[in-house]
Amino acid sequence: MKVLVATEKPFSATAVNGIRQIIEDAGHTFAIIEKYKDASELRAAAADANALIVRSDIVDATLIDAAKELKIIVRAGAGYDNIDLKAATAAGIVVENTPGQNANAVAELVIGLAIMAARNKYSGSTGFEISGKRLGLQAFGQVSRHVANLAKGFGMKISAIDPYAPVQLMIDSGVTPASSLQELYANNDIVSIHIPATAETAGSIGRELISRLPKGGILINTARKEVINEAELEEVLTERPDIKYFADVKPGNADVLVEKFADRVFFTPKKSGAQTAEANLNAGLAAARQIVAFFTDGCTRFKVN
Ligand code: 3PG
Repeated sequence: MKVLVATEKPFSATAVNGIRQIIEDAGHTFAIIEKYKDASELRAAAADANALIVRSDIVDATLIDAAKELKIIVRAGAGYDNIDLKAATAAGIVVENTPGQNANAVAELVIGLAIMAARNKYSGSTGFEISGKRLGLQAFGQVSRHVANLAKGFGMKISAIDPYAPVQLMIDSGVTPASSLQELYANNDIVSIHIPATAETAGSIGRELISRLPKGGILINTARKEVINEAELEEVLTERPDIKYFADVKPGNADVLVEKFADRVFFTPKKSGAQTAEANLNAGLAAARQIVAFFTDGCTRFKVN
């Protein structure tokens, strides 16, 4: 079977070598396309692939139609909003992710962004310490749980809300369950977003929630830009000169926000949450092993479609 690693944002060389070894040791053929500039390059590379490993690469209906031999797509990471699940399912293709494999990397960036915001981008002006401050986690999945663990080490008071996570899990993790999203935003100095991008969550974080942040509140987004109502974010940042928005997922109106609120917004130039040597290895090798398990014994443990 031909396994194609298709990563516009490449894995580390060590991770690529590890993936290659797992694929070849299992008797499969390894192929790779990195830093491609156009979707047509990806379509050509995937034309005879039986398996695909991707990151945030767009796997749309056109690509799926062009990849007639494809049996499985593994998103080496958590969010699979970049994959057209309907088209994949219709084509009989299994789609999987590698949950948790890059969670610590993203969680560390959350803490990094929180400190960067609290210290006014290290400008030299007086900032504040995150110790003793309140941290609200919107959702309590793998990344969020890692953030909670790290934040505990910093002496933060943590609360969370997640309709899909057991309340007991929060309590066991020393996290206070929030009674509503409104309360989460109103009662925390720093709120960190960890919801996936879906039809339901699109544009769901706007004026109603952001304007509830307490004085000096910080909103951190390492999840997806699509969950923010960007026009309303801009309005609230205009009305509330005390609040900040730091994100690993650059909004569509980033240029305007940077121009208008230079000191109070920050966006990584390229999504960096999962871009560590460790996360590359964890997610990349997990993806390769899942593909081998699928072809060896039909294992679909991490199927999402
Ligand atoms: C994820 O969903 O796993 C993260 O957003 C990481 O995405 P990346 O692999 O494109 O860095």
